[in-house]
Amino acid sequence: MQPTQLDRQVLDRAVQARRGEYVTLLRELVESPSVSMQAEHRGDCRRTAAIAVRWIERCGGKARSVETAGNPVVVGFLEGPPGAPTVTIYNHLDVQPAAAGKDGWTRQPFAFAEEGDRFYGRGATDDKGPAATALMGAVLARELGIPISVRLLWEMEEEIGSTHFEPFLAAEHGDLKSDCVVVSDTLWLAQGKPAIPYGLRGVATALLRLETGTKDAHSGVTGGAARNPIAELCQVIAGCLDGRTGEIKIEGFEKTWQPAAPDEVDDFVASGFDVQGFMRAQGFKSLRASDPREVTQRIWARPTMEIHGLAGGYQGEGVKTSIPPLAEAKVSFRLVAPQDPQEILDLLRAHVRRLNPDVQVIDSHGVRAFLGERRGPLAVASADAMEFGFGVRPSFIREGGSIGAVILMEKYLKAPITLLGISLPEHGYHGPDEFFDWGQAAGGMAMFAYFFERLGALRA
Ligand code: BES
Ligand code: MN
Ligand code: MN
Repeated sequence: MQPTQLDRQVLDRAVQARRGEYVTLLRELVESPSVSMQAEHRGDCRRTAAIAVRWIERCGGKARSVETAGNPVVVGFLEGPPGAPTVTIYNHLDVQPAAAGKDGWTRQPFAFAEEGDRFYGRGATDDKGPAATALMGAVLARELGIPISVRLLWEMEEEIGSTHFEPFLAAEHGDLKSDCVVVSDTLWLAQGKPAIPYGLRGVATALLRLETGTKDAHSGVTGGAARNPIAELCQVIAGCLDGRTGEIKIEGFEKTWQPAAPDEVDDFVASGFDVQGFMRAQGFKSLRASDPREVTQRIWARPTMEIHGLAGGYQGEGVKTSIPPLAEAKVSFRLVAPQDPQEILDLLRAHVRRLNPDVQVIDSHGVRAFLGERRGPLAVASADAMEFGFGVRPSFIREGGSIGAVILMEKYLKAPITLLGISLPEHGYHGPDEFFDWGQAAGGMAMFAYFFERLGALRA
């Protein structure tokens, strides 16, 4: 780790002194239910953007909420002295749906609760806690005299695939020019095991729909002659995917992606990824594979096809023997570079047409995979910053999740990107009783302060 001008004790004291303010900010953000997936929360998304703007101003910055055809994007500026290095930090302030008493929630998801060092509420770790950490990190760095210009970029549609982020960037990227881009929206391997991902998978989703009638038919009267849309759809799905192994059978699919190099996979294993711990954390009884070399490649570096829902027919009590008129399946793919979501959905459509020309494939937009650098000066500065903040050197890994904005920022901001995420698996991304914690927030603020200081040297 390279030496720093930062006095550890002074910094730690400054971080502790900000705790009250941090908690107030996180409370306000969490209590504004910015669920981008649900139309009824559009107003809350706007309100969250307004709260964010107020906080950036309160912290001495300038901020505005930029309109798009969907939810606004918050852009904040904390300007340093002329000639200071510039950094854009990306976070998202929209969240996944949540409801008290559902999906395992034992709390009110949008009532913030501070219990010891834990901060509970939907969005606490994904991604409001890290966003608030980045803002406080920028404030602290300026307070401690580090010359840095920070641009905060807070999106409100990440959880729905960053639909309107591209037109936003196309119009606004001039104001966001910076030496590098930091994205703080990823996970560590475990508590005490920091990770810097240099790759993210992409995603593409589709709805398969088969209509063979107009109403329920008696299976005694019509069965044998009647087509069964659920059975036909199951056959189509089985023609696309081996459910046991996960093998994707879509013609042309294999040629569209690049496996991880053997030395990358060596590093996946060396990261200490713990298969048993993974199973415990996710509540799995068994997996498709058990060897860490295989499991890490499967979740980080290979594409997948998933079936999320299969609908059709009677879902109530008992077995009702009618033949339904229609069936639907919701499917998705996780993508690996250089796969293009549209190309994958086109391959799916062609394959499904060959298997069963009556099945409609209704697709939606996707998110491209990201593959960045795991070596070089920015990677080293990032690892040093994480080590400074948390006392442990991070592993460079890939992650299996997707962040639509990353590939778009790479395209429009034309600056190197680093993923300085501070969330832990147990915080529960998208899960019940989601939380963030002060240890990650405090370490994160120190990490950002050190990183900002290093940027000067990086640019020189
Ligand atoms: N923060 C996650 C992405 C993530 C997940 C990064 C796991 C690293 C590890 C992000 O908020 C997210 O949930 N993304 C969605 C995007 C999708 C809706 C387009 C995802 O991955 O499903
Ligand atoms: Mn996120
Ligand atoms: Mn998420």
